[in-house]
Amino acid sequence: MVKDKTLFSCSDCGGTSAKWLGKCPHCGAWNSLVETVAESGGKNRFAGRAALAPASPVMPLSRIEASDFERTPTGLDELDRVLGGGIVEGGVVLMGGDPGIGKSTLLLQALDALHRRGRKTLYITGEESGAQVALRARRLGLEGSLVQVLAETELERMLATLQAEQPDVAVIDSIQTVYSGQLTSAPGSVAQVRECAAHLTRAAKTEGVTIVMVGHVTKEGALAGPRVLEHMVDTVLYFEGDTHSSFRLVRAIKNRFGAVNEIGVFAMTERGLRGVSNPSAIFLSQHAAPVPGSCVMVTLEGTRPLLVEIQALVDSGGPSPRRLSVGLDRDRLAMLLAVLHRHAGVACMDQDVFVNAVGGVRIGEPAADLAVLLAITSSLRGRPLPKGFLAFGEVGLAGEVRPAPRGQERLKEAAKLGFSVAVVPKANAPKKPIEGLSLHAVDRIEQVIEVVRDL
Ligand code: TYD
Ligand code: MG
Repeated sequence: MVKDKTLFSCSDCGGTSAKWLGKCPHCGAWNSLVETVAESGGKNRFAGRAALAPASPVMPLSRIEASDFERTPTGLDELDRVLGGGIVEGGVVLMGGDPGIGKSTLLLQALDALHRRGRKTLYITGEESGAQVALRARRLGLEGSLVQVLAETELERMLATLQAEQPDVAVIDSIQTVYSGQLTSAPGSVAQVRECAAHLTRAAKTEGVTIVMVGHVTKEGALAGPRVLEHMVDTVLYFEGDTHSSFRLVRAIKNRFGAVNEIGVFAMTERGLRGVSNPSAIFLSQHAAPVPGSCVMVTLEGTRPLLVEIQALVDSGGPSPRRLSVGLDRDRLAMLLAVLHRHAGVACMDQDVFVNAVGGVRIGEPAADLAVLLAITSSLRGRPLPKGFLAFGEVGLAGEVRPAPRGQERLKEAAKLGFSVAVVPKANAPKKPIEGLSLHAVDRIEQVIEVVRDL
């Protein structure tokens, strides 16, 4: 076999160079050369392998039969929920998350459950030895597990094993440890990660095996981390949560076979991850009496409402006050503080402002705005919001309060958990009153501040 030559191509202009240079000789961009494999002898190096979708003649959309994908449930309900019902033959899943959050644990549990349902499973480990995987399995109570394990980091041998063993599901833990002998760059570099993932994705489609790749979120985020792979795979799942608390969320941020933003909730226990089927109240901290700087909101990502406590601390700052947020967008916080000052006359210019979503949840939806503003106002004034209080709604730059999607569902969940007072956008106020919940419908930020002053 002729060994493919490597060369370096510019990610800006596409120009190539035989050796690595700091500056692209064609367009002059700095640091833009990335190693790639050159095609040898003019042959298509992917020839003989099926493309991502099988080739077919051109035909009108209406004549193409729409068949749903057959899914195999993993048996872990919370994982199935984010996958859109289960794994799909030939589907490629990327599971990202911080080191130590539970990726290997969850996938080993899933493989064992799949094996018990009669699927052929393979766990390829590049980070740990077979003995370490066995130790984890013992801890999980899976001593007798018949999941096949392969300790391997070379792509070519992995592909050969996949072809020889023909598993139904294979886990690659992790993609950053895989390297191809064709490239000279180190495992974990952008070139290696991208090249290896592309080959594995093709193998998934040709062999009809479901491949789950683990990807660590690196400090630099985008570089060599799971982000460079998101467009290649069918499903992207991210683990979130605070490693100090036991709760973990698995969120689908891309899914060609199901809904995005669906979340699965797990608790890390002595014996692995357990699904939490009724998670709505786990992100509330338990205060005996209301405290200043705390406001509860209902977030609705995916299909389930979750009650999350937003905390704020406003404290006199130095010459350049800090604005920090955990679990919430920092730019949005700066914007909200400006709106609060301009439209409601509440000034925090000389104060440090810290906000936090309790329990390590990340809230991406703007419906958190009202709760953030109320927690800040409450902390600034040193006055708690009343017991059983909650708020949600988006706040715009003009000071208007905009509705959140599916407001009724959020309010019903809050009422079910015993909340009694809510400040909501006017358009979210239900026509029929909800039992046990007194509502204040608002459409401007000034009104919100007025309402809480009277409570
Ligand atoms: P792990 O799955 O190794 O994380 P990742 O693959 O994402 O890096 O999980 C590691 C953490 O989980 C580790 O700190 C120990 C904890 N853990 C438990 O609490 N209970 C268990 O049963 C197992 C297996 C791990
Ligand atoms: Mg791991």
